[in-house]
Amino acid sequence: MAETHKEITKVWIAPGCIVCDACETDCPEVFDVQEETCVIRPQANNADFTKPLTPSIITAAEGCPVEVIKFETIDVEGPEPWAGKEAEGAGAGSSGAASGKASGGTKKAAWTPPEGPPDPKWAGLLANAYTSRDPNARRSSEPLTAKAPPEAIKRALPKGAPPDAIEAAMVGSGFAKPRPGVVQKIREKTAGMSRREALAAGISAVLLVAWGSLAVAFANGLGMLQNYLVPKVINEPPSVFRAGKISDYAEVGVYEQYKGSNGVWIVHEHDGTLVALSDICTHLGCIPNWLPADQKFKCPCHGSGYYMTGVNFEGPAPRPLERFKIYLDGEFVFVDKSVKYRQELKQWGLPGSEIAV
Ligand code: SF4
Ligand code: FES
Repeated sequence: MAETHKEITKVWIAPGCIVCDACETDCPEVFDVQEETCVIRPQANNADFTKPLTPSIITAAEGCPVEVIKFETIDVEGPEPWAGKEAEGAGAGSSGAASGKASGGTKKAAWTPPEGPPDPKWAGLLANAYTSRDPNARRSSEPLTAKAPPEAIKRALPKGAPPDAIEAAMVGSGFAKPRPGVVQKIREKTAGMSRREALAAGISAVLLVAWGSLAVAFANGLGMLQNYLVPKVINEPPSVFRAGKISDYAEVGVYEQYKGSNGVWIVHEHDGTLVALSDICTHLGCIPNWLPADQKFKCPCHGSGYYMTGVNFEGPAPRPLERFKIYLDGEFVFVDKSVKYRQELKQWGLPGSEIAV
């Protein structure tokens, strides 16, 4: 019988991600761990993209502590193209078309730090690298733009290395400076001082920390008092907004300029109508992306797909995207988000749900 192997054609995240960052470390081309959940990168909603990444995706699925990484495979004739290139994951496979966690698989080889000088091509990038393995870094003031391209980290560091080993490798290879601990910081500060001076410096540091803690506690108290005394105001964008002129939408297509600020796509449909589509996925509320090459909206969370009209056609979304009221005042287009039109309630086509272009 001819030899076959499995290749992944589709990958998605089931509800329940605990934002541990492990999958992005294993396969940054596919997984993007955000504040609330992990999402599949838009380019990974494509079988040609995921097939060659099969071993890394399987490694990520096996490493997901809550087993929410799901994927589908197909049988492909011939030996695994990555056989011998990947030490881990290549032997693992999923059974059936709708598989979840990979079964089987080769045992991970013990990881050893890389030897030799760092590749100068990546050294500069990694020196400033932000890696998602530190959950606090994402919430720090460190700008995300400091993040090194995933491929830089991937090429320079061995796959599957645990976070502390990655840090050791980065430090050992000269990619990053070691982060000194508190004791080491004090030692550096007090080097060359007499015992008396060092003691005085230590006491000053302790006093500084104590005063700092007191200041923080005081600020927190003030904040709580302000919360109590000042009425809460929720600053939301107004429900009615002006969306340019009707002449701005002369071409058939999806206009994205109000997606970020107002959560609305303005769509000039093929039938000559202009509609205002909500950008909230009707499955669990993620924000889909418009993929012009595929002429569809694609939700990165669980793979729901919608036509340009907003009608759902793939994935778990139970109904089409909602439309908002849209109307003209002179030459200007207005959208009123407080009025919604739902296709399944036969509200599309009612006055206010669309205008003629
Ligand atoms: S490994 Fe699993 S739990 Fe962790 S971020 Fe990825 S999907 Fe979420
Ligand atoms: S939120 Fe699940 S597919 Fe969009």
